Amino acid sequence: MSALTNSLGSFIKSSIGRKIIVAVTGLALVLFLAGHLTGNLLIYAGQEAFDEYAHFLHTFLHGTGVWIARLGLLVCFGAHLWFTILLTRENKAARKGYAHQATVQAPKSSLIMIWSGLTILAFVIFHLLHFTVRTDAELAKIGAESPWKMVIIGFQNPLVSLFYIIAMTLLCSHLAHGVASIFQTLGLRSNRTAGPIRIFAKAYAAVIYFGFISIPLAILFGYGSDAVK
Ligand code: HEM
Repeated sequence: MSALTNSLGSFIKSSIGRKIIVAVTGLALVLFLAGHLTGNLLIYAGQEAFDEYAHFLHTFLHGTGVWIARLGLLVCFGAHLWFTILLTRENKAARKGYAHQATVQAPKSSLIMIWSGLTILAFVIFHLLHFTVRTDAELAKIGAESPWKMVIIGFQNPLVSLFYIIAMTLLCSHLAHGVASIFQTLGLRSNRTAGPIRIFAKAYAAVIYFGFISIPLAILFGYGSDAVK
C-alpha cells in the first residue's frame, strides 16, 4: 500500500506526471464538450425535444447521474487548472536558472494557453450562474418551466450572446493547441503523425466553435422568437 502511495506521490511530483494529469483531464473536458454540444444542438429540434433531454439529464439514475457528472467535471477542471499552475511555476523557476534570463521567455503559445484558459474559467463561472444556478429570478422561473425557452430568452440579450461568442473564440484557440498537445504528452505524436494531428486538432476546435456559436447567433437572428416574445 505504501509502495503504491509512494509511486503515486512521485508521479504527481514529477514534471512528466503532472503533464500527463493535465493531458488526461484535458481529454476528459474535450470529450465533455463534444457531448454537451451534441445535447445543446437539440435546441434546433424544438422545445419538446430539448426540454425532454434536459429532464432526462436531471432524472438519470434518480437524479444522481447529474451529480456524478458534476463531481467528475469539477475534479477534472480543478486538477487541470492546479497542475497547469504548478507546471508554469516550475518552468518559470527553470528559466530563472539560465544565464541570459532576460532573453529566455515563455513561449507565445503557452502564454496564449494561460490567458485563454483563464477566460474559459471566467466564462464557466458566468455560464453556471446563468443557466444552472439561474441567478436571474425571471430566467429561473422560465427555466423551471422550459429550459428551451430559458436558452432562447437568455441569448436574445445581445450583450450576453456577444460574451458567449468571445469566450467560445478563446475556447477554440485553447482547443486547437490543447488537443494537439494531448497527443504529444501521451507519446502519440511522431514526425509522421504530427501533420495529421495538427489538422485534426484544428478541425475538432472548429466543429466545437461553429457548433456552439451557431446557437446564440441563430437566436439573435430570430430563431425561436415566434414561440418566445
Ligand atoms: C452556446 C453554448 C452553450 C449553451 C447553449 C449551453 C447550455 C447549457 C445549459 C442549458 C446548461 C444547464 C443544464 C441544466 O442544468 O439543465 C448548461 C450547463 C453547463 N454547461 Fe453549457 N452551454 C453552452 C456552452 C458551454 C461551454 C462552452 C462549456 C464549457 C467550456 C459549458 C459548460 C457547462 C457546464 C460545466 C454546465 C453545468 C452542468 C451541470 O452541472 O448541470 N457550456 N449549459
